[in-house]
Amino acid sequence: MEFSALVEQRRSVKNYDSSATISDDQLKSLFAAVVKSPSSFNLQHWGFVVSRDQTLKESLQGAAWGQPQVAACSAVVVVCGKLDAYQDVAQIFAGAPDEVIQKVDGVCQQIYGNNEQAQRDEAIRGSTLAAMSLMYAAKDQGLDSGPMIGFDPNAVAEILDIPSNYIPTMMIVLGTGADEELPPQSRKPLDEVVKLEKFSGNGLS
Ligand SMILES: Cc1cc2nc3c(=O)[nH]c(=O)nc-3n(C[C@H](O)[C@H](O)[C@H](O)COP(=O)(O)O)c2cc1C
Repeated sequence: MEFSALVEQRRSVKNYDSSATISDDQLKSLFAAVVKSPSSFNLQHWGFVVSRDQTLKESLQGAAWGQPQVAACSAVVVVCGKLDAYQDVAQIFAGAPDEVIQKVDGVCQQIYGNNEQAQRDEAIRGSTLAAMSLMYAAKDQGLDSGPMIGFDPNAVAEILDIPSNYIPTMMIVLGTGADEELPPQSRKPLDEVVKLEKFSGNGLS
């Protein structure tokens, strides 16, 4: 699908056909696209838990303020951010000259090593970029999606056995939308959100 069509057609869908399913092959195709997302130093701060089991989805719904789309969708993806991804330099840069690995490792330790805020910011940034890729990849493959932050992260981490070096950053429901029509999108005007040259400059009009 053309990117312009994807952008128009992706919507946050809340009502799903609960009889629709998503296969492992569909997931492989989706996530093969998702992992092409960019990340700082290519550290790939993401991890995903895909829950299709009905009982698990209902537990997740309980941790998500009872929002019905969590139990009705075909798969719930909990997007996680890896807090200590800066420790993965040797793995990611395997095959590069030693001096390159040492240099990147040194810079990463400097930026993230003793800075929990920076670790958390980067985990959220990296995993959120991947979440956006997932929503576009889903639409491209004929699936609907809905991003969600309305959940208790501690409860979700416990239900899904998420280890403490990962934080759940977003829940994305995937499936086949059941609505014939969605309300129109509303967005702030471009001249309010895009400023030219400086924040104090003119709005784009
Ligand atoms: C970070 C984030 C969290 C969201 N959380 C929820 C949520 O918990 N429940 C929900 O129904 N929609 C949620 N949404 C969907 C937004 O309401 C939706 O993206 C927005 O209204 C724009 O609509 P559109 O995505 O169809 O363009 C969330 C969206 C984002 C990006």
